[in-house]
Amino acid sequence: LYVNASETSAKKIPNTLFGIFFEEINHAGAGGLWAELVSNRGFEAGGPNVPSNIDPWSFIGNESSVIVSTDRSSCFERNKIALRMEVLCGEGSKACPAGGVGIYNPGFWGMNIEQGKAYKLVFYVRSSRPINLSVSLTGSTGLQTLATTSIVASDVSNWTKMEATLQAKGSDAKARLQLTTTRKGVIWFDQVSLMPTDTYKGRGFRNDLFAMLKDLKPGFMRFPGGCFVEGDWLRNAFRWKETIGPWEERPGHFGDVWHYWTDDGLGHFEFLQLAEDLGTAPIWVFNNGVSHNDEVETSSIFPFIQEILDGLEFARGDAHSKWGSVRAALGHPEPFDLKYVAVGNEDCGKKYYLGSYLRFYDAIKRAYPDIKIISNCDGSSKPLDHPADFYDYHIYSSASSVFGTAQKFDKAPRSGPKAFVSEYAVTGDDAGKGSLIAAIAEAGFLIGLEKNCDAVEMASYAPLFVNTNDRTWDPDAIVFDSSKVYGTPSYWMQHFFRESNGATLLDSSLRSNPANSLIASAITWKDADSRKHLRIKVVNFGSNNVTLQISVDGLEVNSLQSSGSTKVVLTSGNPKDENSFQTPNKIVPIKSQLDEVGEEMDVVVSPHSLTSIDLLI
Ligand code: AHR
Repeated sequence: LYVNASETSAKKIPNTLFGIFFEEINHAGAGGLWAELVSNRGFEAGGPNVPSNIDPWSFIGNESSVIVSTDRSSCFERNKIALRMEVLCGEGSKACPAGGVGIYNPGFWGMNIEQGKAYKLVFYVRSSRPINLSVSLTGSTGLQTLATTSIVASDVSNWTKMEATLQAKGSDAKARLQLTTTRKGVIWFDQVSLMPTDTYKGRGFRNDLFAMLKDLKPGFMRFPGGCFVEGDWLRNAFRWKETIGPWEERPGHFGDVWHYWTDDGLGHFEFLQLAEDLGTAPIWVFNNGVSHNDEVETSSIFPFIQEILDGLEFARGDAHSKWGSVRAALGHPEPFDLKYVAVGNEDCGKKYYLGSYLRFYDAIKRAYPDIKIISNCDGSSKPLDHPADFYDYHIYSSASSVFGTAQKFDKAPRSGPKAFVSEYAVTGDDAGKGSLIAAIAEAGFLIGLEKNCDAVEMASYAPLFVNTNDRTWDPDAIVFDSSKVYGTPSYWMQHFFRESNGATLLDSSLRSNPANSLIASAITWKDADSRKHLRIKVVNFGSNNVTLQISVDGLEVNSLQSSGSTKVVLTSGNPKDENSFQTPNKIVPIKSQLDEVGEEMDVVVSPHSLTSIDLLI
């Protein structure tokens, strides 16, 4: 490998080249990053008609002691369903069973309750009689009590908000929340929420999952989908206005592409806040009047354009503007730094896409000339026939095909919009649930993007998260359940590119690559202490050891320092190896010191490996 370190023919890598794509898929948000523990907190998951689906709520007692139903009596206008619980036992009737009767919610396949931690409970209640409720966190069968408190009120004849903090005295990753009573009568419940008080900055983001994202040092965050943005039908698409404001008043919606209900606790405001907390640039993918199965005609698109202009004003308007004032009232008077939007997702070619796209483009550019607009149409082979700042490019394929696409952008247009590779991943048999060989192929692809950073502005892996109880889409970068998390090899592969954002790409070339199984790049970057590093990344997609002769030209004499120079390798014994909850660290980057460094050096790269050689210069 020949590396020209003189920087004469070097390129500046965009600050945004490697980022993340958060989609509400696989319970990434609801039952994932969003720390709400109650699933279907407003009993709305079955839609607005009654009876509605209360799953996963269930009742405690038997049918002669308690009757549970739904009606439309809630005090919340946008989500009218409430749960009606009629207690038949107690006071003159046969006594209630010990512990009482009531309802319970097991959360998203169990709530993670941890000893010593506090959980904030809020719910709304109504009854014509005084209430005496026992609220507890218990093990999955309801037998072991982890935390308990009483809610007593003499007059709840109108809907009344109740709050309590539960202190856990035990731990269980599959716990549930119970609301029970031994008092006869009818009680209505609505909007039952249980939040750990220990979330990232108290914002509601699950700490461990947030940390996984932060660790990637993402240059941008695309959100909230994907197909989630489109919906199978427009009536089920993500509509930002329905996701802001007090959580109790949000209607929630059924994501019909990935087939689950979300209470939309993680809404438009929270996504922008998440990007800000990650220190990254938000990229809002908005619904453009197109779903998988229906479309709004361009002649009728105006309400959709207004919705997006309002959403941009919500994010960026000053605190006196109509929608900026709504944001300010939510505790964020300063505008969010929203500078990128994508008009729809994978919709190029749809009947009304282009006509409507042009209307969105004009309206957005008129109101916000600095906002960069991303088209769904692929401009990698020939220039787009419409104005755009970036074009979207997605690739899901086998390992050899993704590796083989590393050169795709060598010939992409250098004038006009650059590419946003907003979804890439190896899928299918090669990938399983996240294999080494998938990560190695993806690394090769990313090196190709890095080398073409004058034609590619941004790239993100997809999907980011999977709750292991809802594996709608495999593979994914980060796997979790209620209490545990691990990165797949594709997650760790992305760590090798963390320092590339804003770095300098050096000219480098492989002098020999017989089986075309190698690809390499070289960058220089500065760490937080302003120390300069030369990083060479090499992917060996083949199944043989390769001794790579590295020759670095153009360095100042004696500038290479062996102390602090390292080699980091991602590999494993078998290309199909995966991480798991049992062996979360089977395939993770392994770092070692490089004892002998020089302008000429031999480095052995293992089969199916990603190697990073980091030299202090
Ligand atoms: O990443 C999963 C899905 O793949 C996305 O929702 C969609 O954009 C693509 O088809």
